[in-house]
Amino acid sequence: MHDPVAFRSMHSSRFGAEPAVFVGPGRVNIIGEHTDYAEGFVMPAAINFACLAGITPRADGKIVIYSENYGEEKSFDAAALPAQGSRNWSDYPMGVVSILAGEGHKIPGFSLSLWGDVPLGSGLSSSASVEVATALAVLSLLNASFPGPVLARLCQRAENEFVGANCGIMDQFISINAREDHALLLDCRTLEYKLAPIPDHVALVIANTMVKHSVAGGDYKTRRAESEAACAIIASHRPGVTFLRDATLEDLDKWGSEMAPKSLLRARHVISENLRTVACCDALLRGDLAEVGRLMAEAHTSYSKDFEGSCVEADAMVALAQDLSGLIGARLTGGGFGGCTVNLVERSQAAAFADALGARYTAQFGIVPDIHICHASGGAHPIV
Ligand code: GLA
Repeated sequence: MHDPVAFRSMHSSRFGAEPAVFVGPGRVNIIGEHTDYAEGFVMPAAINFACLAGITPRADGKIVIYSENYGEEKSFDAAALPAQGSRNWSDYPMGVVSILAGEGHKIPGFSLSLWGDVPLGSGLSSSASVEVATALAVLSLLNASFPGPVLARLCQRAENEFVGANCGIMDQFISINAREDHALLLDCRTLEYKLAPIPDHVALVIANTMVKHSVAGGDYKTRRAESEAACAIIASHRPGVTFLRDATLEDLDKWGSEMAPKSLLRARHVISENLRTVACCDALLRGDLAEVGRLMAEAHTSYSKDFEGSCVEADAMVALAQDLSGLIGARLTGGGFGGCTVNLVERSQAAAFADALGARYTAQFGIVPDIHICHASGGAHPIV
């Protein structure tokens, strides 16, 4: 996995100075999908896949960013920052720089190296890991800092306003505020959160369908628009409702007939998912893993059937896990339409579980899935 020593020397030999290095983790969402932009609840955990950002100042007023993953260098003028992204990997770091500049920070020249092992387009928040690691790196140069929730909002804005992906706040928030061995229940309205320990004997097994998705892509936007259209209809009857967070299943009984059929389904997913997410955190806190598993199964069905956010491969990955020993709960995680499933599995059985699941999936699709046995890691931090 990461080798900060090799990363540091890679930066030093390329840019001629020893960097300050920061890490921003990716995440897995245990439950609470497409609820964040409805000001609802999510319960993610950070994972031991991350982005490293190394930074050193420059005297020539340039911002030079090197991505080790892409083997490519991009150069910008710190005094004339681009106002928008250019559909390139450099949009993620430059989005953060641009938002910080918009907040009144004078951006100096710097060299930034990036390297990450969060699989791209797999629903594990590679984008947020880059934004968050970059934010910590640039802030260190500015001698500035922000409280975690504020920094998460700035990184989300980088993605919304610069990259052009309409994501919610979950990914950036957990990457910054995660706690090792814990899941975090976030209220996406108030940004208040509660930590729930993941017991030692439980592993997070992440199974990649190898089907790629993109938050900037059309499906995410369509689903979001459909659920917001349902919200607007409820709001026309109950003005107190500003987001689906405020709506109830009774509202759907009353006014669902006024909604486009797809909108009604999307809203039913979001409203019921909020209830499940809060209930799942309670169950985890009281150690009721059977209930956690039941809620994850229900969440997957809702995501797949009502939200239509899954795909054949992800539905199969969940189905194939069901009768394997050690499984506590399985569901598709992240933005949807591919990516990974998250499986809570008894740690002592996790390796056998991963082997069996991989073999079954390969037999069905002829694709060898990457399956990782992860643990919940801490949030973004400097590496000293
Ligand atoms: C992506 C987005 C998040 C969230 C999830 C779906 O990961 O970046 O903000 O909306 O999809 O839960």
